[in-house]
Amino acid sequence: MTASSHPVSGDPPVFPVLEEHTRDRIHALARARWPAGEIVVGALLSSVTNFVVPVSVHDEHGMARQVAKYPILGTSLVSLTNATRGSAEQLLAAQARYTARPDAAARVEATHLDLLRHHAAQPDRAITVPEVLACDGGVLITSAAGGGSVAKALLNHDPATLESVTAAMQHAASLAADPALRDALAATAGRRSNTITATLARKFGGAYAERYLAGLGTGWSDEADRVPLVREFARVVAAVRLAAPPAAPVGHVVFGDLKPEHILIDEHTRRQVWLDPCLHLGELAEDAAKLASRLALHAGLLSRTPHPDLPRILHTVVESAVEAYPPKWRRQARARLAVWWLGDVLNVLSTALSVPPDTPVPVPALTPTAARHAPSLLAWVARMLDAVADDPAGATDTLVSTAATLMPGQRR
Ligand SMILES: Nc1ncnc2c1ncn2[C@@H]1O[C@H](COP(=O)(O)OP(=O)(O)OP(=O)(O)O)[C@@H](O)[C@H]1O
Ligand SMILES: [Mg+2]
Repeated sequence: MTASSHPVSGDPPVFPVLEEHTRDRIHALARARWPAGEIVVGALLSSVTNFVVPVSVHDEHGMARQVAKYPILGTSLVSLTNATRGSAEQLLAAQARYTARPDAAARVEATHLDLLRHHAAQPDRAITVPEVLACDGGVLITSAAGGGSVAKALLNHDPATLESVTAAMQHAASLAADPALRDALAATAGRRSNTITATLARKFGGAYAERYLAGLGTGWSDEADRVPLVREFARVVAAVRLAAPPAAPVGHVVFGDLKPEHILIDEHTRRQVWLDPCLHLGELAEDAAKLASRLALHAGLLSRTPHPDLPRILHTVVESAVEAYPPKWRRQARARLAVWWLGDVLNVLSTALSVPPDTPVPVPALTPTAARHAPSLLAWVARMLDAVADDPAGATDTLVSTAATLMPGQRR
């Protein structure tokens, strides 16, 4: 979409129009799937990326809970609603074409969930994923998983968090090394490329990069503070992009979005349900980098004091990934993991700084907190990048030992 397609004043606000359209689409697919049921589409769950809502169906068998997702144009809700992508009418016209594409996000996610469910059906597997119940017209409806997330366990200082993270990394290593899954994945049509490096490139290397960068932090701080922050952001992002290797050659199956909120644990069976796969071939260190980065951010930004096991938890994430590499590659794997970790922090931070404080999008708790702590987070990334340059093989240890104090003295 071009700059000339920007909405003009007088156009209706984008968010409510997209939300109403989304609710209609979800309701229509649920009605087609459960024609005899009474369908209730619930309140939006927090996500800066997509519309995600619980859907309950009441019929003669009782009540069943599902979750529906409606990705629009494969683009984040924040950028769709910040008035740079076109009016609601233009977006919906483009969306009608997008939903027909074989690589539309809902369809690709459904394929990944089916692949993982098949993988999980083997007797020795300890993770599963939600079941795909319906996928059509750009809408994906899956079974709702119960259980608390690893993010919640970490915030509650649950003593079982270390055990859950250890198990998660064992599962990630099992996925990474599964040749049947790798072959099946290679044969699928659609791809979602949201590796840490690709996300950095999309945000900071594309046609809108300059404008995106220049707008970071708008609404979050005075111009006098924002301008040097943006300048420093540009410097650090350029340095991380230079150091960040493209996801590469090892040929591991990577889950792709292994965040603590995407790992749910059944409290009785301890079985894990993983949400929101974004499978691709790459390196296990990518999954480890994202998990470590998000665990540290959650612990540092959302709790008064970090979980007492945080250093051991982060150490486990890093070491179990590094061990999956042949010994001669481990040094390099550490350096790559460290840079991806820093790249992910920049991705989280830039997302947070591009969400206006008064956005109608229901944002996760981490988003505004990360925006408020932007200067010290950015300073940590800059310091750690120097540490990686000085001692690439020791970089992961440095990140692990300093991440527990990511926000010293700044907790709420
Ligand atoms: N099948 C499910 N069962 C239980 N909870 C779910 C399910 N699907 C999604 N959720 C909840 O909704 C949240 C957002 O879903 P999801 O991650 O799929 O959307 P998203 O748009 O990718 O969000 P984000 O960009 O924040 O990851 C999840 O973190 C989880 O809390
Ligand atoms: Mg998600």
